[in-house]
Amino acid sequence: MTYRATGSRLRRLFPSVAGLAVVTLLTAGLAPASAGTSRADYQDPSLPVQQRVDDLMSRMSLRDKIGQMVQIERDAAGPAEVADNRIGSVLSGGGSTPESNTPEAWADMYDRYQRAALDTRLGIPLLYGVDAVHGHNNLRGATVFPHNIGLGAADDPKLVQRIGAATAEEVAATGIDWTFSPCVCVARDDRWGRTYEAFGETPELPKKMTREITGYQGKQLGGDPTSIMATAKHYVGDGGTTGGQDQGNTQLSERELRKIHLKPFRKAVKRDVASVMVSYSSWNGAKMHAQKYLVQDVLKRELGFDGIVISDYDALHQLDGDDSTLTASEVRRSVNAGLDMIMLSSDHAKFLRLLRQEVEAGNIPMRRIDDATSRILTKKFEMGLFEHPFAQRDLLSTVGSDEHRALARQAVRESQTLLENDGVLPLSPEKDEVFVAGSNADDIGNQSGGWTISWQGSSGDITEGTTILEGIRQVSNSKVTYDERGDGVDGSYDAAVAVVGEKPYAEYEGDRPNGVRISEQDLNTIAKLRSAGIPVAVVTVSGRPVDVSEHVDDWNALLASWLPGTQGGGVADVLFGKHNPTGKLPVSWMRSYDQQPINKGDGKDPLYPYGYGLSYRN
Ligand code: GLC
Repeated sequence: MTYRATGSRLRRLFPSVAGLAVVTLLTAGLAPASAGTSRADYQDPSLPVQQRVDDLMSRMSLRDKIGQMVQIERDAAGPAEVADNRIGSVLSGGGSTPESNTPEAWADMYDRYQRAALDTRLGIPLLYGVDAVHGHNNLRGATVFPHNIGLGAADDPKLVQRIGAATAEEVAATGIDWTFSPCVCVARDDRWGRTYEAFGETPELPKKMTREITGYQGKQLGGDPTSIMATAKHYVGDGGTTGGQDQGNTQLSERELRKIHLKPFRKAVKRDVASVMVSYSSWNGAKMHAQKYLVQDVLKRELGFDGIVISDYDALHQLDGDDSTLTASEVRRSVNAGLDMIMLSSDHAKFLRLLRQEVEAGNIPMRRIDDATSRILTKKFEMGLFEHPFAQRDLLSTVGSDEHRALARQAVRESQTLLENDGVLPLSPEKDEVFVAGSNADDIGNQSGGWTISWQGSSGDITEGTTILEGIRQVSNSKVTYDERGDGVDGSYDAAVAVVGEKPYAEYEGDRPNGVRISEQDLNTIAKLRSAGIPVAVVTVSGRPVDVSEHVDDWNALLASWLPGTQGGGVADVLFGKHNPTGKLPVSWMRSYDQQPINKGDGKDPLYPYGYGLSYRN
């Protein structure tokens, strides 16, 4: 490299003015290479990370540093533009996939960005992030695990750690270094569209499930080839907004905020989570992305978080009230509040210009930029990206592997929560002739929910896996008939299974201020099954409790399946007694939505309380 030669040439020619030479080089953004080595300190993996960070920082211009603070949507900037702007990170938002959505195409896309980043003056590798929130869920054919609310019902932290590790293998195989997961939110109002992304309504469940961070990262970040960065999100109080409004306002005293919503982040920091994503929501009317006290003083100083604080997607645009534009004030307030990396759908050139202007005007101190850059570089060194920058293609065979699907099926089994049963369950795989119906019985898109292949998810045959009906056909050795609306059912069957519930959604698209009920179509289907005079077991596939109070007494069983993902066979395992149901409610199941918010210990009277769940050997 030029500076190395310059450095050693200078030292050779002017040993007596070597100090002057070093100052000259430093001023020019260059620093001498390690004595007697053929590379710069920051390129020497045998040196301590802090020394490598310091050396690299000494070579970086302001442009280099602020470039590191940008994470841009892949759709907005190709490899060359990312490299030209010295951008430090790229993301695929929900559904932002390469043209052909295959593991190889992801790995090729990742390597193209990485190669461009390495081909710059300082050759700083980039970090690539995705929302792998229940498996590598953007990728067709990947194993899709139950969403968090089902894992909260399973209440098996070791299993969740294994899920994190399996997900990390499939993610690392495609090159991706970073997942924006786990959501350690505490869902206090089930009208919230992101209730299913929570492990439950108390801090205890997300605290326990922070073990997923260790699954993703390994015992030490970058300690093995499958290690990917985890993200605790969304900091703080996203699940506590008034009325369950997504990106709304969390009106709590600081004491209540700490008691309910902060604890899982404290635990995540103790587990060395690599990044924390700030919430779109507000605390007592003030947007979290400008909350210097909670970000700088509480998260970074009091909790000792030393990783990357990243914004949510275009969240800065919301700070001044006009979501469509990015202003200097929004950049200043968020970066000064302690945000280290800014996630953008586009606008990166404008962001870089505004940030540079604010620094040069003295509105953002250089020590803030250095803190952000140092945190970002530290994670890149810890991840080993300077030594192993490309996709781990030897892991490609793990994507959707039998082993991972078996793990997912176990998670589905353990998440099933039995709420009513007059003895119709378990069904006999040998004897019972079963009629299956309902809008969610044979739809892998519906049983996977949001954040699956696309941001919102969608109904239909969207990826490889087993629907609940297919699982029933696999497990039963007797007659199984299916009709979505129940047409053709008669009294000759021993039982009927009606699989009903919600269609996929994500974020604010899932807010239901008026609650969630079973559709008219599915209610008519259940009525048709009941009119045949046979017992009916209802299975709810949903991201939260569904209002069943006025109907449940007419049913012979009720099983909450949550959002099981691609391995619907796990539901059949419980229906046919291959697995005794052990799931316990991670959220209170309301009598009606006008009880919301309803939570453990609030004195209200739910239909089924938090922690409730039956088994067959009750
Ligand atoms: C979304 C979500 C966040 C996600 C990010 C990137 O708006 O709020 O959970 O990680 O954008 O997709």
